[in-house]
Amino acid sequence: EDPALLAAFEARIAAGESIEPKDWMPERYRKQLTRMMAQHAHSEIVGMLPEGNWITRAPSLRRKMSLIAKVQDEAGHGLYIYCGTETLGVDRHDLFNQLLDGSAKYSSIFNYPTLSWADMGVIGWFVDGAAIVNQTVLAKASYGPYARAMVRICKEENFHKRQGFEICATLAKGTPAQKEMLQDAVNRFWWPSLMMFGPSDKDSPNSAELLKWRVKRKTNDELRQRFVNLTVPQAQAIGVTLPDPDLKYNAETKNWEFGEIDWSEFWEVVQGNGPCNAERLAARNKAHDDGQWVREAALAHAAKRSAKSSA
Ligand code: 3HC
Repeated sequence: EDPALLAAFEARIAAGESIEPKDWMPERYRKQLTRMMAQHAHSEIVGMLPEGNWITRAPSLRRKMSLIAKVQDEAGHGLYIYCGTETLGVDRHDLFNQLLDGSAKYSSIFNYPTLSWADMGVIGWFVDGAAIVNQTVLAKASYGPYARAMVRICKEENFHKRQGFEICATLAKGTPAQKEMLQDAVNRFWWPSLMMFGPSDKDSPNSAELLKWRVKRKTNDELRQRFVNLTVPQAQAIGVTLPDPDLKYNAETKNWEFGEIDWSEFWEVVQGNGPCNAERLAARNKAHDDGQWVREAALAHAAKRSAKSSA
């Protein structure tokens, strides 16, 4: 690449400027953004599946309505971020196919089963809570379209987290069976939620470049720690125990120190061998195939309209 152009680009990044679609950017920058945004979009789409599983089983009309609204929001987040990838010259159909054929990555967290209604609460509380920690920082990313998408998405994530935490707080005040159901969901989702932030910094091959170009503004470990610090007091507030005997508050650093993450589990899930990877891909492929007639009808309708308008 032309060193003068690269130097000018890096000066713009250092000055905190927003890089826009028509601006010159290094191919590596474009590639990194495409990778990150595509995976983010895929995560939103696959993320609908674990929750969709409980829409017909919600315990009340109110719970059903808020869960439907949340799942619908996730679809919108996915489409919104796919639009963002298109500003980088990507064809979203290529991305769809990468998800369908299993070659694309999406967040590991969505490869765990949702076994009880309490999982809906814990997913809203932990998973959307983790997403808020991650996405509020991504709202300051150097790539304009991505940063702006995060601003709007974070507003909706806050609703997701609140509705989830309310489900948990309600169960925490409920019968012993409800309390047990909640604690079981917390036990199953706590560690996988910490894994959402990615491998530890020393094992994160993309972080250095993303930090240099101010796409990431905090490291994986910094965001993970921020999430733990936020969540421990919330767990205490509703009387659930986080499944980590090593959790302890360090008054000096003001951090809740936590135990070792099982990175072999993380990499197993990332590589496609998690509890639900095959199920999620099968569901995504079935939904895509079942939607073939809709795509054909939309194309036929568009062709008819354009024939009419040019007649
Ligand atoms: N699940 C699956 N793959 C993961 C992962 C996870 N939790 N964490 C890391 N990886 C992958 C990375 O993609 C990378 O593989 P690749 O080079 O083939 O893409 C590899 O593991 C090494 O990780 P790195 O730390 O080097 O990768 P990044 O620098 O990209 O950091 C990230 C990973 C923190 C997830 C970052 O990509 C990111 O912030 N992405 C944008 C946000 C996002 O995608 N969030 C996912 C959840 S979306 C969500 O929760 C929706 C909400 O509505 C519920």
